[in-house]
Amino acid sequence: MGRKVIKMALTRPEEAVKVLENVVRENSGNFGMIARALEHFVATGNRAKDIAQVLSTRMDGKGENFQNELEIAGYFHDVGRCFAKDKKDHAFHEIYGANWFEQNAVALGITDSQEQANRMAQYLRPHFIVKEQFEMPEYDVWKKGLEGTDVNLLLPKSWNELVIIYADLTNNGGKIISFEERVADIKKRDKETGNMRLKALETAETRLLKYKNDVELALKQGVCNGGYLLK
Ligand SMILES: [Fe+2]
Repeated sequence: MGRKVIKMALTRPEEAVKVLENVVRENSGNFGMIARALEHFVATGNRAKDIAQVLSTRMDGKGENFQNELEIAGYFHDVGRCFAKDKKDHAFHEIYGANWFEQNAVALGITDSQEQANRMAQYLRPHFIVKEQFEMPEYDVWKKGLEGTDVNLLLPKSWNELVIIYADLTNNGGKIISFEERVADIKKRDKETGNMRLKALETAETRLLKYKNDVELALKQGVCNGGYLLK
């Protein structure tokens, strides 16, 4: 008897985008403009793939899977905006998205492996400033149903998670911009609107800048170190 080989199959990017478009359309009530949201989702996936491609050159055999998973995780990184109870600011969409991906990726044919679905779900979970928001009492109102969340999972530990964070924060409407410009733009908007997210962003800024520096150094050197895992 030969050893059973379990092969993971991830759907093609075009199919993944179709699934994403359907989910967003079905939940259009959570969005001001579907087209604009989708543009950001797709741009983030494309950017994640480009970054992963550069980083993957030294990954001894892991590179192709790294790129494919990150492209598709990038497309879905904000899918939780569809399910957030906070219809205006989509608080905790990172957690809703990760939970949704774990529960639906296999059924929707994104992957045929639950293990892969779970791994990729974690690429979505700690993006942006969800950890700081989760710890702010001001956000308690949006935590109903999320009490079981493991706060430890809200900080990135792997290159895979870092690539999604970086890809998300270096593109605006499909245009590549600097990390600093993007953060400054979000802060400016939050100041103007009095959004409580500003406090979370100011608390998180130092750690976000560290990720940015670590990713940019890795992009320059083509080597992933700095103490992050590789999944
Ligand atoms: Fe997001």
